[in-house]
Amino acid sequence: MLQKVRKAVFPVGGLGTRFLPATKAMPKEMLPVVDKPLIQYAVDEARAAGIEEFIFVTGRGKVTIEDHFDRSFELEKVLEERGKIDALETLAEHLPQTGSVAYIRQHEPLGLGHAVWCAKNYVGDEPFAVILADDLILSEKPCLKQMIDVRDELGGGNILAAMEVPHEHTSRYGIVKPGFDDGKKVEIKDLVEKPDPQNAPSDLAVIGRYILEPTVFGLLENQARGAGNEIQLTDALSSLLNTSPFYGLRFDGTRFDCGDKIGFLQANIAFALQRSDMNREVADFIRKMAADL
Ligand code: G1P
Repeated sequence: MLQKVRKAVFPVGGLGTRFLPATKAMPKEMLPVVDKPLIQYAVDEARAAGIEEFIFVTGRGKVTIEDHFDRSFELEKVLEERGKIDALETLAEHLPQTGSVAYIRQHEPLGLGHAVWCAKNYVGDEPFAVILADDLILSEKPCLKQMIDVRDELGGGNILAAMEVPHEHTSRYGIVKPGFDDGKKVEIKDLVEKPDPQNAPSDLAVIGRYILEPTVFGLLENQARGAGNEIQLTDALSSLLNTSPFYGLRFDGTRFDCGDKIGFLQANIAFALQRSDMNREVADFIRKMAADL
């Protein structure tokens, strides 16, 4: 029987240099889109996909993430006294179960591959998901759930979220060399981290959602430095392509690069426009502000 994907790894050790000064003293994963921090969207997506254990790979200056996923008795008491039942319910709703969350320090920021490797002992010998909170996806069915459903349909394998990007942006992403392609699922023949447009095997980029077999840990163990002198997840995955099936999934939904200022602003607008309690007011405001451009 196909082993269920029960665990998700959230690499949250990054410095957020693209978002300074906002991220000088605050983790980039705590930046709110409307009224929820990015990392909360990532955890909610994982929960909606059936994930039961949440493993955060953190770094210095990231303790507010731990506080966010903990109870806050002082705050709860004040809300209770003031009869703010809705706010109390919202807090409870977003809290993962006691005992289901683990934090590991990545001692040095050596890259995404290294961050995932740090979670090795907590993941053990089972398939797992990796979610990059920077990549926020607005969709009807959560992106990770779409990927898990495709994995069930295929009977296993490694699945990466994928989408077409402008040709001149290939140097920002892991890029797929596609094989058989049915328009949704793409067989992955090769993967290259951040190639220049002239060397890119396609315009199909990997987006921050992965379902991986635990064999990747063996490769990350000895992984040499790659693009940007970092230990790259993409390089380890590319070495596994001959021994393990890999597919990209063109997911349904809109992806926002929330590590980027414009992407983050777009996400705030898009998510606000989804909310019936504020969309009219926000739309009117945008129309008014943009009228003279
Ligand atoms: C990481 C991965 C890259 C992937 C991207 C998606 O890059 O290394 O392969 O395409 O996430 O957002 P980063 O954005 O951390 O530089």
